Amino acid sequence: MTAIQTIAFTDQKPGTSGLRKKTRVFMGPHYLENFVQATFDVVGCKGKTFVLGGDGRFYNDRAVQIILAIAAANGAARVIVGQGGILSTPAASHLIRLNKTDGGLILSASHNPGGIDEDFGIKFNMPNGGPAPESITDAIYQRTLATTEYHKLSAPDVDLTRLGRSHAGAMLVDVIDPVNDYAALMESLFDFDAIRAMFARGFRMRMDSMCAVTGPYAVHIFENRLGAAQGTVTHATPLPDFGGMHPDPNPTWAHELMAEMMGPYAPDFGAASDGDGDRNMVVGRGIYVSPSDSLAVLAANAHLAVGYKTGLKGIARSMPTSAAVDRVGAAMGLTTYETPTGWKFFGNLLDAGRATICGEESFGTGSDHVREKDGLWAILLWLNILAVRGGSVAEILAQHWAKYGRNYYSRHDYEAIETARADAMMANLRGKLPTLAGQTIQGMTIAAADDFSYTDPVDGSISARQGVRVVFDGGARIVLRLSGTGTSGATLRLYLERYQAGPNGLDVSVQTALAPVIAAAEEIAQITAQTGRAAPDVIS
Ligand code: G1P
Ligand code: ZN
Repeated sequence: MTAIQTIAFTDQKPGTSGLRKKTRVFMGPHYLENFVQATFDVVGCKGKTFVLGGDGRFYNDRAVQIILAIAAANGAARVIVGQGGILSTPAASHLIRLNKTDGGLILSASHNPGGIDEDFGIKFNMPNGGPAPESITDAIYQRTLATTEYHKLSAPDVDLTRLGRSHAGAMLVDVIDPVNDYAALMESLFDFDAIRAMFARGFRMRMDSMCAVTGPYAVHIFENRLGAAQGTVTHATPLPDFGGMHPDPNPTWAHELMAEMMGPYAPDFGAASDGDGDRNMVVGRGIYVSPSDSLAVLAANAHLAVGYKTGLKGIARSMPTSAAVDRVGAAMGLTTYETPTGWKFFGNLLDAGRATICGEESFGTGSDHVREKDGLWAILLWLNILAVRGGSVAEILAQHWAKYGRNYYSRHDYEAIETARADAMMANLRGKLPTLAGQTIQGMTIAAADDFSYTDPVDGSISARQGVRVVFDGGARIVLRLSGTGTSGATLRLYLERYQAGPNGLDVSVQTALAPVIAAAEEIAQITAQTGRAAPDVIS
């Protein structure tokens, strides 16, 4: 027996902006329901087809059932859902595009920890496979304030363990293998034969899936299809609490991988990805690859993969990402777009065919194959490049720096600063901007200083106040902005960069190479005096 119930929001109803919140907030009365009903009210539901899945974190299983019941009651024609309610973010983006659906709902809080006392999240992706633009997310939020009721099918849970078609009321539910279509897409882009041959010659890899969603994808692609040794993928089973790991692929949180790659028995290549599979970190034997350098190497060598053999249409990077990829773009005669932080700004460029590869310093890289960043894609492109070029990660980096010069780069994060102090610091800095050009600080002369404003070349929309940047003669640069994703207080991100031309580079550590830039940042922004912090909490 199935029946459609209409449930009034009787309790005080919070506006639901979606994105990321504590799991218990999502589990609270009607919170998820309100967001989902509002989303369907805004984007339409009757007769439509959606993709649905998430990264398997705590509450994923219940949330999927709730969404199916609301979709059915609102007249959706069909929902394509990953078996067990599982889909990585890039796989969901691909399925939306492949099946030409009306969009999709993705359950994840990305790289944030999972569990009943940790984080949960939901977002709506558009028919192009990319996250909904602000106009839609704002409309959804407004709708969550205005709705008075939601509709849900009263029926037993849909069995998501078995592949195949079933019904929820009149709505079709197609439970699909989460990995197959995505793996086929990867096989169409990369030379799997060459990578397989490399593994057959004894190439060794370590992939740390951090108990998050990429486990099954990585085992299937690396071990089953490409012949990497069994056990190559560690922490390969997605767990509701990610086994207590913080599934954020950076040297701090992926420390097990870092220790192995820097140790005496390091394999040839190491990689990690995050909760929902859109981020990646790449490490060679004894050498860490910064995401900005990774983007530059991938752009310079993408033509070695079959999916990119005709070349790139353009390159895009977020403003705080280092200029390493700009040098590749310039050498190839390509436009390199500089966008504000956040993946959504790449979507228009990809849709318009202006860019093929894009990336951020925050461990996100991707291309026009989907409309999300894609961790396994980046790792496979690295493998493809290694398989075709031969040599080690260290050699590829050394050759890259010898050709283009090196952009020493680091990000310093100051977390949970009192919001008022962080705001005051930024206001003070912004006030100084007009006077900075021409000043010499730490022996470096400031060429330009501004607050980054972006005019989207496709739709002309303007995003102002996207971060303060101070550029010095010779290519050194300081960027300061406040995080838009932090959950307690304010997080100040200080991005530091210094360019060194020539084949030999500086024979010092990255932080040492950046010492004058770090000192200049302190002198200009007065971080310690303004925030009371003597040192950053996280350095990446
Ligand atoms: C951070 C990263 C940014 C990324 C975003 C979502 O945002 O810096 O590059 O797009 O997470 O993954 P932030 O906290 O800096 O606003
Ligand atoms: Zn993510």
